[in-house]
Amino acid sequence: MRSLTNLMVTGGAGFIGSNFIRHLFSLGEFTGKIINVDKLTYAGNLENLSDVEKRWGNSRYFFEKVDICDFASIKAILLEHEVDTIVHFAAESHVDRSIFGPRDFIETNVIGTFTLLEAARAIWGERQDSLFHHVSTDEVYGSLGESGRFTESSPYSPRSPYSATKAASDHLVRAYHHTYGLAVTLSNCSNNFGPYQFPEKLVPLMILNIFEGKPLPVYGDGMNVRDWLYVEDHSSALWLILNRGRTGDTYNLGGDNEWHNIDLVNLLCEKIASMRGLPPDHYKSLVTFVKDRPGHDRRYAIDSSRLKEELGWKRKASFESCIQKTIEWYAANMQWVNRVKSGEYQEWLRTNYADR
Ligand code: NAD
Ligand code: TYD
Repeated sequence: MRSLTNLMVTGGAGFIGSNFIRHLFSLGEFTGKIINVDKLTYAGNLENLSDVEKRWGNSRYFFEKVDICDFASIKAILLEHEVDTIVHFAAESHVDRSIFGPRDFIETNVIGTFTLLEAARAIWGERQDSLFHHVSTDEVYGSLGESGRFTESSPYSPRSPYSATKAASDHLVRAYHHTYGLAVTLSNCSNNFGPYQFPEKLVPLMILNIFEGKPLPVYGDGMNVRDWLYVEDHSSALWLILNRGRTGDTYNLGGDNEWHNIDLVNLLCEKIASMRGLPPDHYKSLVTFVKDRPGHDRRYAIDSSRLKEELGWKRKASFESCIQKTIEWYAANMQWVNRVKSGEYQEWLRTNYADR
């Protein structure tokens, strides 16, 4: 029986991690505490959790500014807080950044995951009341053609430095289970969207560029396909897996919601035009087709049957209502946007995308 009382959440100041922490505190059935371990890279922002900090800080919520590659500090936190569950989100997560600079991806995604596994093994050994849950991506499976969907037994075929490092970390997690008996579960999820997503990813980048009347840079022919999932539905799936997922198993997670990039960008244009009482096509002239991403995976689609059938997961609200909520969240949180976009992000953009 898993304890699920003292959770270490790595990368909890990022997009999905912060939404997950907020989700858990909103659940009556979660009565434990959370230790958020985050190095606070450009993508980590404590403001994402200021409400949680205010309500639960130093009683059920704790923050540790620590790099997951720091074995001694991780081990000390596991011991001090008697951690029984690790939910591992911390990663370098943006494919374009991995193309320009893969080193940080190797360090955090591979060495960092290895370090966490070593610390967990040192303290828990084969204890079955503990759990190491690894949050991963569908991108480890590579690129699909026109048909088919990834299942848990699809072969790994990562094609970007980002997905290669996530694949390496998935393999390490499974290896620690098989070799050392560490209690683990894994999830491989499709593209998320929702509040607090750093505005370098497609959905928030396009929303904000539409707000500002800036060009909407669509890579290649815009016909690449992604399967979009609202971040809240990711959190609910993770909670189910923590509670009832079979030790050693992997769960694929997607939204049954495939969109060509160009169609999604046009949808965002239409929604924002409608919110502002403008004709549906008003913002579509901002679409600018730009040079394709090198090695751009054509299509991802996920078969979530195992998660649905074994654990009874289903996504909650309709895609369109979640997109609407997301647009409204960005419109209402422009101060957050300006703060996360200042500094290092602007510098990175200028260095790597001088042409845009
Ligand atoms: P994010 O980039 O928004 O957040 C990553 C967080 O990790 C940040 O808070 C950052 O400060 C922290 N971090 C980075 N390096 C660290 C280190 N060395 N030590 C401690 N903390 C560190 O990422 P996200 O979009 O929230 O993704 C979270 C996880 O989910 C990642 O593992 C990612 O691979 C996976 N995932 C993301 C998506 C998606 O669509 N965003 C889809 C599937 C899976
Ligand atoms: P992204 O949000 O970076 O997620 P991922 O690469 O992990 O799927 O990109 C989603 C899709 O949108 C992907 O096919 C690349 C494309 N894209 C653009 O066309 N323009 C952009 O400016 C960005 C950031 C992404």
